[in-house]
Amino acid sequence: MYMRQIKIGHMDNFAYLLADDFQRIGTVVDPGWPGDGVARLMQQAEEDGVDIKYIVLTHSHNDHTAGVTELVAKTGAEIVIHEEELPPAAKKGFDYDITVKGNDLLNLGGLELRIIHTPGHSPGSICLYSGGKLFTGDTLFVGGCGRADLSGSDPQQLYDSLFNKLLALPDETEVYPGHDYGDTPSSTIGAERQENRFLKTRSTEDFVSLRMAV
Ligand SMILES: [Fe+2]
Repeated sequence: MYMRQIKIGHMDNFAYLLADDFQRIGTVVDPGWPGDGVARLMQQAEEDGVDIKYIVLTHSHNDHTAGVTELVAKTGAEIVIHEEELPPAAKKGFDYDITVKGNDLLNLGGLELRIIHTPGHSPGSICLYSGGKLFTGDTLFVGGCGRADLSGSDPQQLYDSLFNKLLALPDETEVYPGHDYGDTPSSTIGAERQENRFLKTRSTEDFVSLRMAV
């Protein structure tokens, strides 16, 4: 699997450029910001011989989606989003082409992505699993997790998504977050299980009070 992690914009966002090793049909996860952000994604794709055909949105927040319209205009890429993220996405003014739900298995130009529905930060937040790599959007960060005090957030759902869905994955699963908020740009489920203070809480109540306090 081909993968590039690209830091974009003024909020430490990570966009990802993914492709099957052989077909080189590109999928961008969370394009981030227009202008320089989109230009860097396009340049990386061109250097690596990748043809961007798909955009997968981990959720609809502006810092992950502001570059979508420009990237679509330049590539004609199709937009993939979770069905429960549709109303907020519609407000952003872009059309979506493919809607997904939890446990869907997508094949995007030979790249297989498993959709894990992880509500909590937003209703239609998703994490993407492929080949031992997990792209976590704003659900899980290195040493942190997404905010749960925003419109559409639910801290108890975030607890369930983190503890019952992401921590169910093998320790060696590589974690690639939607922001560069940690000591390292990526991590593993095992390391986060041991070191992430949010994942060391021992009850829903403890998690919710820690999450809502900071
Ligand atoms: Fe977000």
